[in-house]
Formats: sequence, C-alpha cells, structure tokens
Amino acid sequence: MKFTRRQLVGITLCIVLSFIAAYILVLTPKYLGSAVDLMVGKGNVDLSGVRKILLFSLGLYSAYFLLTWFVSWFANQIAVRFVKNIRSQLEYRLNRNPLSFLDTHPHGNLLSHFSIDGELLIDGLFQLISQLFSGVFVVLISLYFMLQVNVRMTLMVIAMVPVMYLTSSAIAKRSLVLYRRQQSLAGQLGGHVQEAMNNHQLILSSNYQKESVKDFEAIHAEYNEVGEKAQFLGALVNPTVRVINNISYVLIGLMGAYVSKNYGLTVGTLTSFISYSIIFSKPFNEFSAIVAQVMSAKASYDRILETLAYPIEEDRGEKMTLKGEVVSFEHVDFSYVKGHPIIQDLSLEIPPLSKVAIVGPTGAGKSTLINILMRFYDVDSGIIKIDGVDTSTLTKESLGNVMSIVLQDPWLFEGTIRQNIKYGKPHATDAEMIEVSIQAGCHDYIQSLDKGYDTKIDLGSQNISLGQKQMITIARALMVDAPILILDEATSNVDVLTEYKIQEVFRKIMAQRTSFFVAHRLATVVDSDVILVMREGKLVEQGTHKELMAHKGFYHTLFMSQFDSV
Ligand SMILES: Nc1ncnc2c1ncn2[C@@H]1O[C@H](COP(=O)(O)OP(=O)(O)OP(=O)(O)O)[C@@H](O)[C@H]1O
Ligand SMILES: [Mg+2]
Repeated sequence: MKFTRRQLVGITLCIVLSFIAAYILVLTPKYLGSAVDLMVGKGNVDLSGVRKILLFSLGLYSAYFLLTWFVSWFANQIAVRFVKNIRSQLEYRLNRNPLSFLDTHPHGNLLSHFSIDGELLIDGLFQLISQLFSGVFVVLISLYFMLQVNVRMTLMVIAMVPVMYLTSSAIAKRSLVLYRRQQSLAGQLGGHVQEAMNNHQLILSSNYQKESVKDFEAIHAEYNEVGEKAQFLGALVNPTVRVINNISYVLIGLMGAYVSKNYGLTVGTLTSFISYSIIFSKPFNEFSAIVAQVMSAKASYDRILETLAYPIEEDRGEKMTLKGEVVSFEHVDFSYVKGHPIIQDLSLEIPPLSKVAIVGPTGAGKSTLINILMRFYDVDSGIIKIDGVDTSTLTKESLGNVMSIVLQDPWLFEGTIRQNIKYGKPHATDAEMIEVSIQAGCHDYIQSLDKGYDTKIDLGSQNISLGQKQMITIARALMVDAPILILDEATSNVDVLTEYKIQEVFRKIMAQRTSFFVAHRLATVVDSDVILVMREGKLVEQGTHKELMAHKGFYHTLFMSQFDSV
C-alpha cells in the first residue's frame, strides 16, 4: 500500500500551504506590534495608521483561517480516501484468501482492520499531514522571528519549553494509560452484556443470574474508578500548562523590561515577542498527542500490511465446463495443519449419477472430504478428478459451476429472502425462485411472512428458525442447478417430517445428478447407490446398504446402534 501520485501531490500541497499559513500566523503579531507602537503615549495615537495596520492584520487572519481550514479539509479527504482504498483491498483479499487464512487468523483482528484500525489510521494520517508539519513550521518560523528581536530572550523562551513539555506530557501519559484501561474495561462491559444476551437461556436455566450480575458489578466498579482518576488527571493538564505559560510570560515581561531599558526595545516589539513566544510554545503541548496518534496509526498500518502480505490465491487454472459425471479420489492425503494428517491415502471412484452417502462418527473427516472436493482446501498429495480432469488444474469458478453445496450451518447473509435464494443466479425469475422454494419445502412458510420473499434476514436476531434457514439454503442450492449437489448434513436442523419431504425432493433431483450427502441419521442413506463409511480420516468401508450390512463391519455396528436406540 503506497500513496498514489495524486495523493502525494495533495500531501505536498498541504505541506506547502501549511508553511504559508504558519508564516502568516507568526507575521501577524509583528504588524499588531507596530500598531501598538503607533498608540503609545497619551494623545499620541496615529489613528489612520493603526486602522490601516489592523485592517491588514484582519486580512492576514482571514487568510490564515482559510488556509488552515483548507488544509484540514484536504488532509482529511486524503486520509479517508487512503483508508477507503485499504479497506477495499482488505475486502478483496478476504474474499480471495484461502480458507486456511481464516482458520489461522482470529476473526476479531480481521474485523478490527475495518473498524478501529481504519479509524486510527485516518486520525493518524490526518494529524500527520495537517498538524505535525504545520506545528514544526510554526515553531521554526516563530523561532526565527524571536531571534530577530532578541537572542537572550529567545533562549529563555526555549529554556521554558522542556519544563512545560515534560510536565504536561507526564500528566498526559498517566491519564492516557488510565483512558486506555477505561476503554478496555468498556469493551469488557460490552462483551459481558452481549454474552449475557446471547446466553440468556443458559444463564436462566443454570440460575447464573446472580453470578452474572456480580461479574458485571466488578467490571463496572473498576470502570468507574479508573474513569474518575482519568478525568481528574485529564482535567489537570490544561490548567497546569496555563500556569507554566503564565509564569513564562512574567519572566519574558521582566526580561523584556530589562532589555528595553538597556537596548531600547519598543513596547510594540515586546508585545510581538510575547505573541511569538505563545505561538512558539503552543505546538509543544500538542506534539506528544500528535506523535502518539501517528504512532498508533503506524501500528495499525503495520497490522493491516501484515494481513495484506498473506499470499492470496490466484484463481489460476483452466476454465472448463464440466458435466460432473464421474468423481474420483486417487491416494489423497490431507491435513489442515502440517503434521496432523486428517485424511490418509483415500481412493474412490464414483460412477455417474450416483447418490453417495458419507457416514461416520463425529470428527471422522466427512466435512473434510467435502472441503477438499470443493477445493476449499488443497490436498497435500494425491489427485481428485471430476470427469477425469484433475480439479487442481481448474479455476475455482469452473469448480463452483459444477457443484452446489448446502452446509451443516445454514449460511445466509443480510438481505431479503429473495436475494438469498437468487444468490447464485441473480437473474432468475420469481417463478423459478418459487419453484425451487416449493421443492425445498419453504414456500408456504415464506408466503406466511408479512413481507413474503421480501422479508429481511437479520443475522443478529433469530427471526427465522435454524430449520427454516436451512430450507432457504437448500432452495438456493437447487436454484443453481449444478450437476453435482453436495449436502453436508443439510437437513440436520429440520424436523423428521420436513426432512422426509426434502429427501423426497432430493431423490427426484438426485436421479439426474451426482450427489454427495453427509448424514447422521442412517435411515436416510439406505437407498444410496454408494455409502462411504469414514472413520478417523480413513475410508473404512464402501458399498450399498445391503452389501455393508451383510459385511457386518463398522457400518453394521453404526446402523444397529442407531436402530436400537430408535
Ligand atoms: N478448519 C480446520 N482446521 C483444523 N482442523 C480441522 C478443521 N476442520 C476440521 N478439523 C479437524 O478435522 C477432523 C475432521 O473434522 P470434520 O469436520 O471433517 O469431521 P466430520 O466427520 O464432518 O464431523 P461431524 O460429524 O461432527 O460434522 C476433526 O478432528 C476436526 O477437529
Ligand atoms: Mg461435519
């Protein structure tokens, strides 16, 4: 991520204008000082001269106002655009990163790139462009003007700077620590409330209310205590700085009197000098805050860069329209984490238009098998072929076109039901949409909603039940109408009757396609053409229900145990 040429030109412009503004800011007291000199002494006032100078000064102040306003506005624009760009890049990346990326990066951190890191970066950039340079210019130019007046007085002003800076930054640092602590406690408070809301039933059912309130009170008490301290110190910064400033004016006044007596300094020049000294020391109060902001922006920027540096997946390979008839695995090994093999030496060949059931205990690798078939993850060794073509040589798009999938967790996004169903085929007609919804068994339900297909799906709330969500995702998969249909416990959240109905639909649809479906309820796999029995990452048995039952192996045990318990 670099600045674009235009942004660099913009930043340069801001810097140049900041310089001019700083110059004007320091120049104005010089004129005001000469106005003072025209007023000194009773009855000795050159009114028209004073008026001219004051008018001119007014012009300078207006120019200063316009310039600083423009720089602020422009710097903000640059910062916001820069971050907007970064957010887009991040979004682009997140969409193209392999799933293994999401497995290994805490999602909270990724989200914070978009929110807090982005905001910190905007603030820091803004401060850097609009405040830091201008502060440095103001200091240098006023220093130059002060030196023009008197070197000794200037040295005294410079000597006051560290005193002022150290006191204010010491207080600020301490209160910053407290503010941070307060912020993190505020986060904890929010987290606590959210967790309590999410787990409300759990809390109620296990009589945990008292404990929950106690936990809350503990965080809340600390939050308030830290808050009070932070406010106290925070309120101390300004008065302290002001006192030190005032002391320094007194000192300058004293010294000025001495200098003017011995070296003939006019009252006007002394007035100007005091103004210079004020202008000179002001940025020092702000530097530490600005530098802190710029530093935290830098930290955010580095974090984002680190994420952006993760190699993305290019959708390389051959584009091909597959029929999706034969699926085969040849000696496939796979591990999510190197050194922890999940699937080992798996080989199988699925004839065209088969209905394939994948069964096995929890953690056996059923979903994993699907993950690698869909190429959500790349295999470590071995080959997966569709219609004899090695899938690793194809683009993801080609693969996406040949398979459509319904997962264990119904995956919906915020939007209307219509948008969700038409996701893979945005230009589908409503008639098609209703057709697949009827097939998936959710049409009646959707019709019963106030807004029908225009009902918004709100991810935060549970306005739609899990089973209903699952049926909507099934409708979406049917909509895509891909040659291979994959269902990973797609009916795990619906009632037995609905499941039966959906199975009926599948039976029809599956007659014309190859389908893989993972099922826990073995009653639903009995009529499959092939049943793949998985156990600890290995394909331990395969065959029809009849064959497997006759074999009296692991499948038999599984089936009988379910049968017994029914
Ligand atoms: N993203 C992942 N990263 C690391 N390990 C994973 C990941 N996903 C699954 N695993 C591990 O791989 C193994 C197989 O998991 P998988 O999800 O394939 O099981 P499953 O047969 O689908 O189980 P279930 O019936 O509970 O859905 C498990 O030990 C699991 O912990
Ligand atoms: Mg699974």
